[in-house]
Amino acid sequence: MGHVFISRAVPGRALDLLTAAGHSVETWSGDLPPPPETLGAKLAAAHAAFTTVVDFVSTGMLAAAPRLKIVANMAVGYDNVDPVAAAGMGIWVTNTPGVLAETTADMAWALLMAAARNVVAGDRDTRAGGWQTWSPTGFLGVDVFGATLGIVGLGEIGEAVARRATGFKMRVLYHSRTHKPALEADLGLEHRPLSELLAESDFVSLHTPLTAETRHLMSTGQFAAMKPSAILVNTSRGGVVDQDALIEALRSGAIAGAALDVTTPEPLPLDSPLYGFPNVVITPHIASASLATRSRMAEMAAENIIAVLKGTPPIHPVNHPANPRQT
Ligand code: DGY
Repeated sequence: MGHVFISRAVPGRALDLLTAAGHSVETWSGDLPPPPETLGAKLAAAHAAFTTVVDFVSTGMLAAAPRLKIVANMAVGYDNVDPVAAAGMGIWVTNTPGVLAETTADMAWALLMAAARNVVAGDRDTRAGGWQTWSPTGFLGVDVFGATLGIVGLGEIGEAVARRATGFKMRVLYHSRTHKPALEADLGLEHRPLSELLAESDFVSLHTPLTAETRHLMSTGQFAAMKPSAILVNTSRGGVVDQDALIEALRSGAIAGAALDVTTPEPLPLDSPLYGFPNVVITPHIASASLATRSRMAEMAAENIIAVLKGTPPIHPVNHPANPRQT
């Protein structure tokens, strides 16, 4: 039996699963994540760490945790921990693939629609008493139906976004490391080099993980390649976008707007120039936040921990330690 540290209160049955499997569980009760030194101390005393995307697990923390066998991230992304370094120490890193794709795709669409049709700006204005009359020129947005959508990263979330676009009779372009001929045939998708996708799209939606290759994938040159009428949607990671370049692109009119569920840093400081643009929608990294999905994500993280503490491989590994820790 092991000791599990959970870095935040989580919904669903995760806690019950862990305790039913005989493990002792300590849940951090704060509304904010444990500070780094606390997280390090908790990991040092645990056999399993149940973490979220805002728990940055450094290689030093792993090295100082002699009993730790698994870092189970309650997320599909895992840029908050180095899986290669962890594998070198015999520690599994796991994620929660599959379960959040549809929920995240729903949110990408919510953001796209909100930015295209001034949903947030209209709501804000209405609450402030600005609704004086029906106006032929007020809050003119852009049509989504029939427009061109560019999807950057055609993993499970990108694909789920593309499926929704067919209902809007959109032309859908995608940029991805691998061509996906079956999806091209099924959904009518067209593969493009990134520069061409950017030049042709009315909406660009980002769905790549954050890696050394994708950091600042969208920077000054990429914004310059976009249509001045185009809208950027980001539900992936803030680091995929060079935020200073985005601010400049919005200032100069290189693009028409942005809808961001992720930023750099998170939370976005209140003095960020991004808040000053009426054509920017910002949400607090909630793309996977439905009760059902977050509950299932938590349960998957628990299931990965239970497997590893039983001495078997986890269900959703993102690394493969040659010599997983046994004690
Ligand atoms: C993920 O899963 O990577 C999201 O960013 C958090 O749900």
